[in-house]
Amino acid sequence: MRYAIALLAAVTLVGGAVAVAQDRKPPEKLVFQSKGGDVTFTHAAHVNREKGECATCHEKLWPQSAKEPLKSSEGCRACHQAGGKAFEMPGNCVRCHPTVSSPPRTAP
Ligand code: HEC
Ligand code: HEC
Ligand code: HEC
Repeated sequence: MRYAIALLAAVTLVGGAVAVAQDRKPPEKLVFQSKGGDVTFTHAAHVNREKGECATCHEKLWPQSAKEPLKSSEGCRACHQAGGKAFEMPGNCVRCHPTVSSPPRTAP
């Protein structure tokens, strides 16, 4: 019985490794252009903070492709909101839009 459990665990581990291998090579960072000023997304730092858990963002919030424009910061808001995992968006525009030249108007 104990052997069976160990075997099951080993099979589960291998299955997990295969699932990870199907993920594409993650980028170090991505730059999104926007009318509000370019946004640098620190992909590697975000992955580390999620302990390598790709599924937090893929494919739920975004595809594993930067070919399509983001269109909005809505997905970022999943964590970047009051009471969320990260600094909220209102009042923190420059932390994502460091090149914003004029006083920002309203959040998108
Ligand atoms: C905190 C959220 C988040 C996590 C966690 C995350 N990603 Fe991403 N990833 C993104 C965003 C945002 C994009 C850009 C999507 C877009 O442009 O539509 C992206 C894009 C990508 C791309 C496309 C890059 C390109 O140049 O086309 C790959 C590949 C990728 N991620 C792989 C991974 C892998 C592998 C993991 C897990 C190890 C992972 N991501 C975890 C947010 C995340
Ligand atoms: C899964 C949750 C999550 C998502 C989704 C997410 N972030 Fe973050 N982000 C964090 C956390 C956690 C931090 C670090 C804590 C903090 O600075 O408040 C962070 C920090 C940052 C920083 C500061 C630099 C750094 O990496 O420490 C920037 C810039 C940033 N995020 C931009 C974005 C953008 C742009 C998006 C959407 C494309 C996004 N984040 C989506 C969780 C997330
Ligand atoms: C967590 C990071 C983050 C914060 C904080 C943030 N933004 Fe953004 N913003 C983004 C991302 C990502 C996009 C979409 C870029 C794209 O379309 O690829 C965006 C897009 C925009 C756009 C362009 C919308 C459009 O329709 O083209 C404007 C304007 C903007 N932001 C203003 C602001 C203002 C004002 C604030 C502060 C109240 C703010 N942003 C805070 C990440 C952020």
